[in-house]
Amino acid sequence: MTDTMDRKPNLVISTGAGMSAESGIRTFRDAGGMWEEYPVMQVASADGFRADPALVHRFYNARRRDLFKAQPNEGHRILASLEDRFNVEVITQNVDDLHERAGSHNVLHLHGELTKVRAMDDPSLLFTLTEDNPDTDPHTVIDGHKVRPHIVFFQEDVPNFALATEIVEQADIFVIIGTSLSVYPAAALVRYVRPGVPVYYIDPNPAAVPAGIHVIRAGASEGLRKLAGILGVNA
Ligand code: APR
Repeated sequence: MTDTMDRKPNLVISTGAGMSAESGIRTFRDAGGMWEEYPVMQVASADGFRADPALVHRFYNARRRDLFKAQPNEGHRILASLEDRFNVEVITQNVDDLHERAGSHNVLHLHGELTKVRAMDDPSLLFTLTEDNPDTDPHTVIDGHKVRPHIVFFQEDVPNFALATEIVEQADIFVIIGTSLSVYPAAALVRYVRPGVPVYYIDPNPAAVPAGIHVIRAGASEGLRKLAGILGVNA
């Protein structure tokens, strides 16, 4: 029996900070990006958290407050609408919840989630912060547990990467949006695409990628409108 496509095609989308740029969320390595203003190893690494946990809590409190003021952009909404025609799986490096708020149902966060903190003594215990209660510090206790940002710091493992590779191996179409492809292992996801599966890369200032990848030199919203046209979907 041949594998007739009697199911929706699997559309796997890997997104980075550029996906949320049009929502006013700063990227990291563009001009004016986050890492120009903050020493990344002090505010986003395991060593930095050990050295000055209060600074790291404050850094993520500020980003969380910005996120509560932000809205999904047209790119997030187009991506969510593709679920009508495809089995869409989003694998994101982003810690914002804009994909979810735009209506995407299958979102796998590789680097954590800004709206959540987790118990220091039980990493599986997550607590969701709200706009009314956005901040934590090293002394915050929730349900009897001290908490830390539910973020994968540099120098820490990426626990969801193995699952992400399994999802990419099932892709019928793979799309990369808004990432400089400079952080591993996320940047290596494209290596798990089966031979012959089309790969698209949407970015206004794309990183160098192997031949054969269809580069759409545009921002997320414009690029996704173009991609929807290529895929035969009215977005
Ligand atoms: N639409 C799409 N892409 C955009 C837009 C836009 N409007 N504006 C900028 N970009 C692109 C940039 O050209 C760049 O390629 O988004 C990318 C942002 O790259 P980075 O700032 O390096 O962000 P990212 O690749 O997601 O960083 C990966 O590094 O610091 C860590 O954990 C952090 O998840 C982050 C990881």
